[in-house]
Amino acid sequence: MPSRVGAGSFLQDVAGSRRMLFGAAVSAAHLRDAALCEAILRETGSLTAELEMKWSHVERHEGQFEFQDADAVANFAHAHQKRLHGHALLWHRSIPDWAMKAGRLQDDWDSIERFVAAMARRYSGVESWDVINEPIGPAEQPDGLRQSAFLHAFGPDYIRRALVSARRHAPRAVLCINEYGIEYNTPEHERKRRGLVQLLAELRRDGIPLDCVGVQAHLDLSQHHHFDPAVFARFLDELGAMGLQVRISELDVKEKDSDGSVAERDRAVAEATRSFLSVALQNRAVGSITCWGLSDRYSWLDVPAGNRGLPFDTDMRRKPMHSAILDALSQRQA
Ligand code: G3I
Repeated sequence: MPSRVGAGSFLQDVAGSRRMLFGAAVSAAHLRDAALCEAILRETGSLTAELEMKWSHVERHEGQFEFQDADAVANFAHAHQKRLHGHALLWHRSIPDWAMKAGRLQDDWDSIERFVAAMARRYSGVESWDVINEPIGPAEQPDGLRQSAFLHAFGPDYIRRALVSARRHAPRAVLCINEYGIEYNTPEHERKRRGLVQLLAELRRDGIPLDCVGVQAHLDLSQHHHFDPAVFARFLDELGAMGLQVRISELDVKEKDSDGSVAERDRAVAEATRSFLSVALQNRAVGSITCWGLSDRYSWLDVPAGNRGLPFDTDMRRKPMHSAILDALSQRQA
């Protein structure tokens, strides 16, 4: 029987004792907040740049790389012995304007290759990369792929080409495909799960370099009644059976439209987290949990203000969600 841990424990300590990793996304601007940094240093074992490594951020002007923000996150991680996860090389929402203009992406794989090479070279300490972010489309498509600018410019092969480039430039890094909207038992999530499994199976069959799948896990209290443990467990089994590592890569909970007192809302967020993680962590392929932020003080869900979907509140106090993650980790067999 796995031992339970005290409520005062830190997330990475418990994760580490279970041979897992706990991480958080951070933004360079937030690293000026001493209270946040203190919590990051205590609680995490790995960091992900929330914005700063995206193509649109690094290469705002063609051929001119601006690394200072990404460096800030990478240097902080290095200075504090945190692992660094690279996010994200190809994402349809982070293509620079110059590359989007007048179909400029068409026939210009060189610009992608140059970006991948530049990132891999500068951030050679990155242990894992989201090479492709969100390739699966929400709408019905025979191959399940998102109708993105990458797909239109290069056809479905863009995924293989990107993975091959990433392996060439970052030969030691764990290469990931990261996806959202695959957690619930709804027709849309099921369609995306099928599309993702089909894509992964084809990549594995053809020996394309790929090591890992990120399940983003942006949970939503208004949808959480659609969480079906058996369906989600079966999906994780499918991923694990392909020999892929699985990461819970962007965990948070959308809840600001919920009714009830703050205490009730925090309890509901913790409950959703607990139910989700208790299934996820039963699968041995799942090796890490990353929250998309650590504190409600800085969350993409907090725009406009009011969401309480991360382990710490805006005053940097632990919330029931913190205990839910601790409990889930502590129940995992080492
Ligand atoms: O920093 C500027 C600020 O100066 C300006 O006043 C403000 C006005 O809109 O914008 C600020 O930048 C915003 C930035 O977040 C920081 O808040 C950008 O407009 C906004 O586009 C950016 O959104 C980020 C988004 O990715 C796009 O890069 C979110 O913070 C970030 O959480 C989100 O992360 C994504 C993952 O990469 C992929 N999975 C989903 C996840 C959530 O959408």
